[in-house]
Amino acid sequence: MLTSHPASRPHHAGSEEAARFSLVTRDLPDEASERTLLATGLLAVPASIAPRYFYDAVGCALFAAICELPEYYPTRTEAEIFERHRHEIAASIGHRRQLVDLGAGDCRKAEAWFAALAPRRYVAVDVAATALEHALARVASAHPAIDVAGVVTDFARSLEAGRGLDLSRDLDEGPTVFFYPGSSIGNFVPDDAVRFLRAIRGLCRDPGSALLIGVDTVKDAERLRSAYDDAAGVTAAFNRNVLNHVNRMLGTRFDPAAFGHVARYDTVHDRIEMHLEARVAQTVGVGTLARRFEAGERILTEYSYKYRPETFIAMLTRAGFATVRFWQDERGDFAVYHAN
Ligand code: AVI
Repeated sequence: MLTSHPASRPHHAGSEEAARFSLVTRDLPDEASERTLLATGLLAVPASIAPRYFYDAVGCALFAAICELPEYYPTRTEAEIFERHRHEIAASIGHRRQLVDLGAGDCRKAEAWFAALAPRRYVAVDVAATALEHALARVASAHPAIDVAGVVTDFARSLEAGRGLDLSRDLDEGPTVFFYPGSSIGNFVPDDAVRFLRAIRGLCRDPGSALLIGVDTVKDAERLRSAYDDAAGVTAAFNRNVLNHVNRMLGTRFDPAAFGHVARYDTVHDRIEMHLEARVAQTVGVGTLARRFEAGERILTEYSYKYRPETFIAMLTRAGFATVRFWQDERGDFAVYHAN
């Protein structure tokens, strides 16, 4: 996943001129420090694994399956809000912006905005280099009038390391819209979320620059819990699969079947917590050390914070945004904010 690319390498795909795009790699952590961080989390009490380790190839496929589950409402509710209010949101944002897609994946969510927003430039940011390269080849050839660029970086990791979001070299002058859909902001703890929003605000230098962000809301605890513990067991498989990824990264021998999937909703912090719970007492070698897990002991794998609109607007304000508009579905299950 952490393939590196030479800076500013021009790419060609499909018909000659139409499919040009640039792809640069920024600030990726070296593998040794990633391994140290991961091992430190496992050896700590309580143990934790950062949610970014969910997304190996199997984890990405399982996450795509989660997004289709009847219980997992965020993806389709956000899509409904986008569909229903697309023209109003686009009118609020304006045309010919530079569109920066944070966590672009296959770029399709952002691409659905191209007709309404007519961006002059599209900058896709993601940690998965190969997937990004393929997606950008497709986008560049489908939209030859748009200047297409890709940045391979792990902005969550950079933020965690206190380095912020350094995209200044990758953005051109002029109004820029940052697109951060899917309620991924919920996977940061609130202070980090505000830090991240502030970093985005800091990059909104030119008038007309803005953030378009999708955020899950607080709702009935049982609906929330079942969105993270579906009947078909896809989220459980997604959660356990993180141990396969850890095994490959650290050479550990975790048995995913020896851990149960736990998803609980914490009504004090308004967050889903996902854990892996040791079914039996077991000892796992981590480097030269041995980590004993008692039966019932948990490894924290993810927080997914949910925000009431008033709380999220206060966070946007703390981050320096002055004006906020937002749109919701009829049930108020999800919210989309335009902040500038
Ligand atoms: C990516 N992120 C917004 C998802 C969420 O809902 O927090 C990840 C996820 N974890 C379990 N299901 C989905």
